[in-house]
Amino acid sequence: MSVQSAIKRKTAPDIRARKNGEPIVMLTSYHAHTAALVDRHCDVILVGDSLGNVMHGFETTVPVTLDMMILQGHAVMRGSRHALVVVDMPFGSYEASKEQAFHSAVRILKETHCGAVKLEGGVRMAETVAFLSERGVPVMGHIGLTPQSINTLGSFRAQGRDEGSWDPILRDAQAISDAGAFSVVVEAVAEPLARKITETIAIPTIGIGASSACDGQVLVLEDMLGLSPRTPKFVRRYGDLGPAIDAAIQGYASDVRSRAFPGPEHVYEMKKS
Ligand code: KIV
Repeated sequence: MSVQSAIKRKTAPDIRARKNGEPIVMLTSYHAHTAALVDRHCDVILVGDSLGNVMHGFETTVPVTLDMMILQGHAVMRGSRHALVVVDMPFGSYEASKEQAFHSAVRILKETHCGAVKLEGGVRMAETVAFLSERGVPVMGHIGLTPQSINTLGSFRAQGRDEGSWDPILRDAQAISDAGAFSVVVEAVAEPLARKITETIAIPTIGIGASSACDGQVLVLEDMLGLSPRTPKFVRRYGDLGPAIDAAIQGYASDVRSRAFPGPEHVYEMKKS
C-alpha cells in the first residue's frame, strides 16, 4: 500500500460539506510537534501568518514572507496525518494580480503538500478566489477583521457592531462564497452579524472572536494555551502553560547550577534496561 493511500486526510470538500453540520474544529500550528497534538482533535490545522507574531515576535503579520509560510507549512504536514492543513498566503504574495496569487498558491501546494490556502479580503479578492478555485487551488476566505490590512485599518477593532455597518461585510461574505471558496474565516465580528452571514452564505463560516453562531471555530494555539504575552479579549484560555514551562526551565537551570544534572552513567543505565 502506498503512503498516500495509507493516510486519509480530510479534504477541502469534506470541510465544505460540514455546512450546517457538526461544528468544524480548527487551531493554528506552525511546527511538526504541535501539529501532531492538534491533529488528534482538530478537523483543520491552520498554518497562520500569525506565526509572524507568535514565532518571530513581529508586531504585525505584514513582514511574513512566502518562504516562511512554506517552511512551517511543510513542518506541519510532516507532523500531522488526518487534518486538512491550510496555509495562509502572506501579505504581498497575492494582492497584485490573480496570476501572482496563482503562482504563490502553487508554490505553497507543491512545496508543502498542504490541502488548501487561505487569503484575506472579500469583494476585492473575489475574482482571485474564483481564478484559484477554478484551477485546482482550494481557497479558504478571511473576512471581517483582516490583520494584514493593519496599516490601512489603523487598529485591530471588532467589526459590524451596529447594524448600519453590516452591509460591506455581508457583501464580502457573499462574494467569497459565490467565488467558490470552500469556507471562510470570520474574524472579530459581532454575534448578530456572524449569525446573519452564517445563515445567508452557502459555505461554512469559521469564527474567531465572532461568537458560536458560526459553523466552526479557530483559535491561535499559543493564545488558548496561555503562552502568548498578549491575547485578544475574546480568547478563552484552555491551559496556562506559561508558568509550567517557566517552572521546568527553572528546575533544569537549578540542576545544572548545583551540578545535580544526571551524568553519562545514568544514560548508560537506561540504555541497558
Ligand atoms: O494567522 C492566523 O492565525 C489566522 C487566524 C487568526 C484565523 O489567520
